[in-house]
Amino acid sequence: MKELFKKHSGLKEVRFILAVGSGKGGVGKSTLCAMLSLALRETGYYVGIFDLDFYGPNVGILLGVEKERPLIEFGKIKPVITEGIKILSLAPFVSEKEGIFMRGPMAQSLVRELAEKTEWGPLDFLILDLPPGTGDIFLTVLDLIPLDGFILVTTAHKLALSDTKRTYNLLKENKVPVLGIIKNMKNLWKEGEEWEAFLNEEKLNCLLEIPFLKSFSEKENLKNLTEVLEVKEILKTLSNKILEKVFRIH
Ligand SMILES: Nc1ncnc2c1ncn2[C@@H]1O[C@H](COP(=O)(O)OP(=O)(O)OP(=O)(O)O)[C@@H](O)[C@H]1O
Ligand SMILES: [Mg+2]
Repeated sequence: MKELFKKHSGLKEVRFILAVGSGKGGVGKSTLCAMLSLALRETGYYVGIFDLDFYGPNVGILLGVEKERPLIEFGKIKPVITEGIKILSLAPFVSEKEGIFMRGPMAQSLVRELAEKTEWGPLDFLILDLPPGTGDIFLTVLDLIPLDGFILVTTAHKLALSDTKRTYNLLKENKVPVLGIIKNMKNLWKEGEEWEAFLNEEKLNCLLEIPFLKSFSEKENLKNLTEVLEVKEILKTLSNKILEKVFRIH
């Protein structure tokens, strides 16, 4: 059913669809999506990012294209392209002076419409930047889009981990392949016993531990940071880990 939807939608030429999510807000999902896109692109893959956080669309800021509008022609949407990375986000259509009003059913139909009408073209990886939690957008994605891998991002803080566990259980119930978990801003929170216990119990891999990077708090456009030594190293490890996992599963 989901494969059929993919075949008849703008996703038809995408090899792997990876989702990045967490139960918790503000743990670095969008940052990780931008990092992963840069890392995979650097390795030579064709990559796109689908910003599904309709209420807080900010992937464009992280890649310096927040004002560029996707082209809409004959009912089809052409993503914005920067450094060879294709990006679709609602941000350029909504002024920061306005709040975003969108009730569940509208968000659900927008997920479907954007997935159907966006011309991604041939891509190796499409990365879905999900909103926090497991609400309407998250559930519609699970219903509609065949995911080749889900990357959980969280901090080690007990609150974030608690929400992440819930999200993980939902993914498990829905048989979504979880590639592993990324611990972000690792030096800011001390890891409690429950971290190791959760990973052991679920036989989950901690794919990567990312420290709090000062450069990220100074510059928001990550394209300008790829040559910073510590960022460069993290991007390399990130793409290696994700590629290893994806190609092992598929
Ligand atoms: N490793 C890091 N080092 C420094 N700052 C970081 C790091 N990861 C994320 N941040 C910062 O933390 C904040 C939240 O990150 P981000 O917006 O990516 O989180 P999110 O999970 O996508 O949030 P939301 O739930 O609102 O979508 C941003 O200001 C970002 O720059
Ligand atoms: Mg986000």
